[in-house]
Amino acid sequence: PQTHYHEFVLQATPVKRLCMTQNAITVNGMFPGPTLEANNGDTLVIKVINKCQYNATIHWHGIRQIRTGWADGPEFVTQCPIRPGDSYTYRYTVQGQEGTLWWHAHSSWLRATVYGALIIHPKEGSSYPFPKPKRETTLLLAEWWNANPIDVIREAIQTGGAPNISDAYTINSQPGDLYNCSSQDTVIVPIDSGETNLIRVINAGMNQELFFTIANHMMTVVGADASYLKPFTTNVIMLGPGQTTDVLITGDQPPSRYYIAGSPYQSAQNAPFDNTTTTAILEYKSAPCPVKGLGVKPVMPTIPAFNDTNTAMTFTQSFRSPQQVEVPTEIDENLFITVGLGLNNCPPNFPSSRCQGPSGTRFTSSMNNVSFVLPSNFSLLQAHHQGIPRVFTTDFPEKPLVQFDYTGNVSQSLFQPLSGTKLYRLKFGSRVQIVLQGTSIVTPENHPIHLHGYDFYIIAQGFGNFDPKKDTAKFNLVDPPLRNTASVPVNGWSVIRFVADNPGVWIMHCHLDAHISWGLAMAFLVENGIGIMESIEEPPPDLPVC
Ligand code: C2O
Repeated sequence: PQTHYHEFVLQATPVKRLCMTQNAITVNGMFPGPTLEANNGDTLVIKVINKCQYNATIHWHGIRQIRTGWADGPEFVTQCPIRPGDSYTYRYTVQGQEGTLWWHAHSSWLRATVYGALIIHPKEGSSYPFPKPKRETTLLLAEWWNANPIDVIREAIQTGGAPNISDAYTINSQPGDLYNCSSQDTVIVPIDSGETNLIRVINAGMNQELFFTIANHMMTVVGADASYLKPFTTNVIMLGPGQTTDVLITGDQPPSRYYIAGSPYQSAQNAPFDNTTTTAILEYKSAPCPVKGLGVKPVMPTIPAFNDTNTAMTFTQSFRSPQQVEVPTEIDENLFITVGLGLNNCPPNFPSSRCQGPSGTRFTSSMNNVSFVLPSNFSLLQAHHQGIPRVFTTDFPEKPLVQFDYTGNVSQSLFQPLSGTKLYRLKFGSRVQIVLQGTSIVTPENHPIHLHGYDFYIIAQGFGNFDPKKDTAKFNLVDPPLRNTASVPVNGWSVIRFVADNPGVWIMHCHLDAHISWGLAMAFLVENGIGIMESIEEPPPDLPVC
């Protein structure tokens, strides 16, 4: 195994998009940021130097960080932020994962521009479980604002309202042909007749689940979230923010140009969203010259309607592991966690300009009716490791305090969650099942729920209220997919299982950034096991202090 050394310099960089130049925070002046590549088994060492005006951290999304929680990155969870002028070196080893992951800032809304791909090739001496592709391309889907994203969320938090919607979706940071001033920089994806290529698709968007389509070409899905899948063929894929999907495509169409499109999947009704489409161009190298010129319009794919939940659900339900897997069959911890929004009443004597949510309220969100609050003096991991009191409590409820009809009319009393820094304690090695149930509080909506430090099996998904009597019959304990971000379908639920074999403090949150900003998160405290190899490593000497 090799060790790869990198330096990431965070800095403000002028970036021109949609006819307008802005200073965006980038890594090494690149947008999207540098692609990290490693083999399964390799070690990565990345020195992050913060030369921007904001506190920052970097998260290596999906990397398990076995015993190295200090390198995970979420601010105030596993580390204090890196202050402007300071640096911190992240060091971790890829253990068992192969495929596509990504990295992003995990501090306020910095990740809107601070993100890049993290590609894990097969272990040295081994190969893909599918024929070696001729070419590999990585496409990062994201969102762009004609504004500083830090200001967008700051304003939302201050006013209590929803953040402004994005002005464009992007592919490798380019909006593409359908937006003003963007044609020239549209991303070109090359292909040759007859060849089969691998495309790694990442949803690095802030708040939007996205459909991904390619005109006239079928996609064979072979992996997601750095785990292989039993291949299946589809004409559309859906990714929630945080999720990745690897697909194979074959150059089996007349040599020409075809649009690749990213378009919104919007499950929340009556909520404003960016209803535009980003494009790249799949271009046959053998296409005749006039076709390649700007004169010939590429073929547009059939894009699902923005509210096509059926297509989204059919897609996620097609996922299977390539072989039978070892899902824990016995359960030590059986949790039921609701995920959803809420509305707080405007406090008395509060200026109404700060209560601009629906009917003069303020937006909030919660898990099991607890809105998560990050500490500010210590990180949770540091507080746990050093036994610092009063930073958190370990009374996160294992089920909602009141049962209710999660998809029907909800009593107003449930709209206002408690707030707190509540963790759930897990013994090392415990076998955990979590039913993630979406609520219809404020609006029914699909939530991409991401767990740090683990991959988990998604053993079932469904609509309505989870019914422990009937729905256990739907559990797939044979070949469920392994992921790090689960879509909890709109008006529905997902059930996940994992073994708590990675000690540390691990946040679980909705990867829609507006929701995490409002508190849609909780964290697990996984105790050390017996012996050094079951315990978290000592913190690195340059770990930032708060
Ligand atoms: Cu990709 Cu906690 O995030």
